[in-house]
Amino acid sequence: MMKNYVYITRKLPDEVVEPLTNMFDVGMWDYAEKPVERDILLKEAARADALVTVLSDQVDYELLSKGSNLKVVANMAVGFDNVDINSAADLGIQVTNTPDVLTDTTADLTFALLMAAGRRMMEASEYIKQGKWKNWSPLFLAGTDIHHKSIGIVGMGRIGEAVARRARGFEMNILYHNRNRKPEVEQELDARYCSFNELLATADYVVCLAPYTKETEKLFNKEAFNGMKPSGIFINASRGQLVDEEALYQALVNKEIQAAGLDVFENEPISPDHPLLELEQVVCLPHIGSASKETRYKMMGLCIDNVIAVLQGKKAVTPVN
Ligand code: GLV
Repeated sequence: MMKNYVYITRKLPDEVVEPLTNMFDVGMWDYAEKPVERDILLKEAARADALVTVLSDQVDYELLSKGSNLKVVANMAVGFDNVDINSAADLGIQVTNTPDVLTDTTADLTFALLMAAGRRMMEASEYIKQGKWKNWSPLFLAGTDIHHKSIGIVGMGRIGEAVARRARGFEMNILYHNRNRKPEVEQELDARYCSFNELLATADYVVCLAPYTKETEKLFNKEAFNGMKPSGIFINASRGQLVDEEALYQALVNKEIQAAGLDVFENEPISPDHPLLELEQVVCLPHIGSASKETRYKMMGLCIDNVIAVLQGKKAVTPVN
């Protein structure tokens, strides 16, 4: 009998792939850092029974409809906005993601970004590295407190809740906005539900953790930034497409908001001349929310487990459709 064929779009460590190679024929793109070329991916999709993809791969109708064997796409991210899940469902292809294993790691990074932006840590680090530290002065690199301030979480999913748990440790006042109210979260974390506009107007830290959908595209536009306090700090750790970056830039330059911490951008990777990089009050990170060694190994392992389950005719471990 012909073995199933699995194609992986980034080079993964051998020990991670081993369970697959023991059971199936496996093809893998040769590079860990460079995305697979589109024409190669299309060719591989045409013969694959399973694909392991990453968030920079466009898993669209063209790709999904290439082959008649394709049964599962295991996307190595909790977000799956790069996958056309409706087409996948129409074509009977299972899509899986990597929830839960990355929740705490991403919440840690989100909170670190909030702290770095509030306390001007990157600016301070640059200052000392550039040999500018000569003296002490009363308001020298003075930032904004974190403890006892208000955090407004937009998107109270698993990661939002984990961020709220961290905020509680800092005795912050927790506000949230979400598609639906979560009474159990309100009770456990002493979080208050409010409208998007009230959250913007009230929170000292506005933290974007909502998924990217048609409804959330450019949710943070000119009006949204206008609605924040001038002392407000904006944090984004979900997807860049939720933000109008030009409006964010203008809001920062015009001092309508104070600072920002960004782990994600509209078009990744951004180039060194991206306007937001010019601003010292912006902390920028290259989409590393889930990037701890422990968690990345778990994410890779979960993709492999999903592929094996589906190819063995079992239920996927973490299905999205
Ligand atoms: C990363 O952005 C993810 O969705 O896992």
